[in-house]
Amino acid sequence: MPVRSGTLAWLAFACVAIVLVGGTLGLGPLGETIAILGVFGLAVALGASGRAPVPDQAPARDAPPLPGGFGQALLQRLPAPLIVVGQDRRLTYVNPAAHGMLPQARVGAHYSNATRAPGFIEAVESVLRDGRDRSFTFTQLQDQERHYEARASYLPEGAGGAFGDGAQVLVLIEDRTRDKAMLQTRSDFVANASHELRTPLASILGYIETLQGHARDDPEARELFLGIMLQQASRMQRLVDDLMSLNRIELNAHQRPEARIPLRRTVAEAAEALFPLASRSDVLLMLDLDLDQGDVEVLADRDQISQVTVNLIDNAIKYGRSGGRVRVVPAEKDPRFPGMTGVSVIDEGPGIAREHIPRITERFYRVSNKKSAEVGGTGLGLAIIKHIMTRHGGTLDIQSKPGEGSRFTIWLPLALESGDSVGASRNDA
Ligand SMILES: Nc1ncnc2c1ncn2[C@@H]1O[C@H](COP(=O)(O)OP(=O)(O)OP(=O)(O)O)[C@@H](O)[C@H]1O
Ligand SMILES: [Mg+2]
Repeated sequence: MPVRSGTLAWLAFACVAIVLVGGTLGLGPLGETIAILGVFGLAVALGASGRAPVPDQAPARDAPPLPGGFGQALLQRLPAPLIVVGQDRRLTYVNPAAHGMLPQARVGAHYSNATRAPGFIEAVESVLRDGRDRSFTFTQLQDQERHYEARASYLPEGAGGAFGDGAQVLVLIEDRTRDKAMLQTRSDFVANASHELRTPLASILGYIETLQGHARDDPEARELFLGIMLQQASRMQRLVDDLMSLNRIELNAHQRPEARIPLRRTVAEAAEALFPLASRSDVLLMLDLDLDQGDVEVLADRDQISQVTVNLIDNAIKYGRSGGRVRVVPAEKDPRFPGMTGVSVIDEGPGIAREHIPRITERFYRVSNKKSAEVGGTGLGLAIIKHIMTRHGGTLDIQSKPGEGSRFTIWLPLALESGDSVGASRNDA
């Protein structure tokens, strides 16, 4: 059975690629062996049927032609970016994934055009010099700083097949930017959460020591300190509850709620529980939800919509104006949110400066630490709302100007009535 020399070169190349990619994707030795056998079998079959891919001629020095056939198909479809550098330092192959990642990488050009990252250049030069494979990392400033992990492998003379006779370096790259950002977010989160817990905990420990020491026989001081300790312990409890709540929401973040619920009634019922808090804070809480005009249905998790309502009204009371009003009203239609219906919570407080608005939904972000300490905020309420809205395919819109109060609106997609097509609903906001 004739298997031509070009095919053999391709086969060798494809096998090296499989081992490398298999390692990266965690295929394991068995998976890699099966893949290699598959490649071999197919190549033999193609050879037998006379359709084996054979390069027509030796590759040109500047831009070697890429042979067709299975080898090419395999490399072109690799999800991992792959480039090959010839002994003359020119790129002999760049797969489409690598083009997307390093747009300057062009076959025939010097490989340093792809990236001038010192780590990359040092690794390729070292492999060409001593023929030993290397793993390395490099960063590149593109739309943002991007972090890559790569492996440079040596293909000895003759093994590169259609890519040229000299030795080649095969570089397989992985974009690790997202992983790195996630690690950073997680470690920031743990640091913030620990800090938030440590402050009240330190205060409680301090008061316990005082009570064991000089305040032991002072009933007045004992009463005062126990009151503060209760306050601090409650703050810790709220924080832990909020953290657990965020965790639960994140766990089913990709599961869209399917229950049809009446939005305005759900909001009204949750809001009613806050009348006592409003009156203690000297705030007039007004529910103007036009329930007698009917309701609107949304596909939502009732408990989560209640939680969103409570968090928004709690903020409006805490950060609003003492002696002022907090109104809960249906949102007017807004072309920015087609197919959605909304409810707004409006306060008459000091409002929020423009630069803070995009950030207040971040975990632990507070506009004023002093005010938050006064009202006992943990900085997680709006982050919880944002996650809940995302899970529902909705959004939180914040309109505020310093001195003019704030309007927080939750927008949720209207539930389609049976028979309605997507994007159209007989419900009306
Ligand atoms: N209605 C509002 N008016 C003015 N500022 C607000 C309003 N709502 C929120 N903020 C600002 O946004 C920050 C974040 O609010 P968020 O609800 O996430 O946390 P919190 O109220 O401090 O704590 P938590 O809700 O977890 O008890 C608040 O600290 C406050 O500075
Ligand atoms: Mg809050």
